[in-house]
Amino acid sequence: MLEIRDIWKVFNPGTMDEKIALNGLSLKVEDGEFISIIGANGAGKSTLFNAICGTFLVDRGSIVLDGTDVTRVPEHIRAKVIGRLFQDPMKGSAPGMSIEENLILAAGRGGWLSISSPDERAGFRDRLALLGMGLEDRMKAPVGLLSGGQRQALTLMMATMAHPKLLLLDEHTAALDPGTAEKVLKLTTEIVAEEHLTCLMITHNMQSALDLGDRTIMMDGGNIVFDTRGEERKMLTVEGLLDRFRASSGKKLDNDRMLLSTVKDTPRNFKH
Ligand SMILES: Nc1ncnc2c1ncn2[C@@H]1O[C@H](COP(=O)(O)OP(=O)(O)O)[C@@H](O)[C@H]1O
Ligand SMILES: [Mg+2]
Repeated sequence: MLEIRDIWKVFNPGTMDEKIALNGLSLKVEDGEFISIIGANGAGKSTLFNAICGTFLVDRGSIVLDGTDVTRVPEHIRAKVIGRLFQDPMKGSAPGMSIEENLILAAGRGGWLSISSPDERAGFRDRLALLGMGLEDRMKAPVGLLSGGQRQALTLMMATMAHPKLLLLDEHTAALDPGTAEKVLKLTTEIVAEEHLTCLMITHNMQSALDLGDRTIMMDGGNIVFDTRGEERKMLTVEGLLDRFRASSGKKLDNDRMLLSTVKDTPRNFKH
């Protein structure tokens, strides 16, 4: 599904601020796989997503998505087959437009003056109802009036409506209160499972990283330092994961938020 070979990204090369953000990273993702990604601040996690999306071109290496070499393909073209969510619930939907108008855009029909058919509206209503956030009764409401959790759930629905080849989640529940974060995370696993999506999810929550999905990857210094799945992963605890991090990188995790969130705040039954 996704094959990344030896990608490099150096910011501000040749200056005092030179930063090797991706350091010869390779990764093969199977069709339908759900991978969680962890790593300290600055490890290169978001840069990896930017590279996959084409926010910038990589300096070296190749990215093949579903058999197509997209290494040099512009971001807006890749965006047609890649869904992406950010930490900030304000990104990903247009605040001045109604829920319905946002959905029309996400459905790929474009055009600000597009009007949905009764059938389409009914389809939107049904899908919104599945989010369990009461949005189905507020289709004419501007998105800017929604809470962070409602908006992130809507963005998730919009990002997955067109059945993307790849769904990239960059700490998409980190800005939400714990209860709402849990709800959005549950929705995420349900949608990913139902739509058989291939998904990469960056999370600061070590427990979620082990509980959700099929595989956990740890990044450090612009590369993957640990990659676990199957039986080995099932047996792994958060403590074990922290030990692996120390062993792989030769240092302690310096991300406070990540250490704090080693306390379990995700129910285990979220596994899909
Ligand atoms: N656009 C950019 N310009 C300069 N440096 C950047 C840019 N984007 C990221 N970096 C640097 O690259 C490194 C990796 O950043 P990032 O991928 O955002 O880390 P993470 O998401 O794992 O916290 C950091 O040192 C960051 O400061
Ligand atoms: Mg990041």
